[in-house]
Amino acid sequence: MSITPTTPRFIELHHPDAQSLRDELAAGLSAEPAHIAPKFLYDALGSRLFEAITELPEYYPTRTEATIFERHAADIARAIGPAATLIDLGAGNCEKAARLFATLQPARYVAVDISVNFVRGALTSLQQRFPTLPMLGVGLDFSHSLALPAQAVAGRPAFFYPGSSIGNFTPEAALPFLRSIRDTCQGGGLLIGVDLVKPVDVLEPAYDDALGVTAAFNLNLLLHLNRLIGSDFALRQWKHVALFNAAASRIEMHLEAREALRVRWIRGERKFAAGERIHTENSYKYTPQAFTALLRDAGFTDVQAWYDERRWFAQFWARGRS
Ligand code: AVI
Repeated sequence: MSITPTTPRFIELHHPDAQSLRDELAAGLSAEPAHIAPKFLYDALGSRLFEAITELPEYYPTRTEATIFERHAADIARAIGPAATLIDLGAGNCEKAARLFATLQPARYVAVDISVNFVRGALTSLQQRFPTLPMLGVGLDFSHSLALPAQAVAGRPAFFYPGSSIGNFTPEAALPFLRSIRDTCQGGGLLIGVDLVKPVDVLEPAYDDALGVTAAFNLNLLLHLNRLIGSDFALRQWKHVALFNAAASRIEMHLEAREALRVRWIRGERKFAAGERIHTENSYKYTPQAFTALLRDAGFTDVQAWYDERRWFAQFWARGRS
């Protein structure tokens, strides 16, 4: 039998308007308290620092999620059912999805990321390893709206959203986002990784590691802002803070001013008192019950979950609309 190799196709749907980006950043810096959306952590260096974070001894989520796939691959594949289009949200280097190809045997693979350039190289080399699997790369900022083109969602899609990236949404924002996946599912479903509540002495070091990689990841946001809005943040005046807010069930990352200072940017400025913070990320931690309830509120049915031995992380599969 002859094998017909195929080549990946790409669509760029993310066209950020530079002025609205600058307005969003200036408004966040001027707010009380100041805040910047976590997507700005991921410039080219930030994305590499995040990959390094996933290898740190303290950062358990990536490793733990991988053990769940190893232990329960056959059950997960059985729950998802026959060949479908695998839609990888926030695909990055596409490695997590690629590890599932052998068990899930998808008919098509769609890699979605904020910029199609982030997945271009990864998809091109993945295609060499899986020459007959049709692949599509889509550049889309799906944190605002999951408006995927019809060609991307054809064929009973199984959405894949690993790594507990859902934890970076507030539960209020996660609900409409999950609903939009449910609305797009057409008889398929959602395979989603979720980090669970656990002792604070495990949670906080995962976001404040001894090597200082997470501190660098957080501080790099200021270098990114300096390029985007022409600000004059000086890194040595700021420090990384990560804490578990038990009442809200979330890790919070902040950048804290080490001294009283002033930051200027094009058409704006702000004074920060010593100890004043910029809130840069939330990472919500769920109980299995709370996340099951969120999936059901979003309209999913037949919710199933698999865990690692310590019950630190969960992989959920839930069915969408048929
Ligand atoms: C991408 N996201 C799931 C990571 C998390 O754990 O919330 C981002 C991260 N921030 C600091 N370390 C990792």
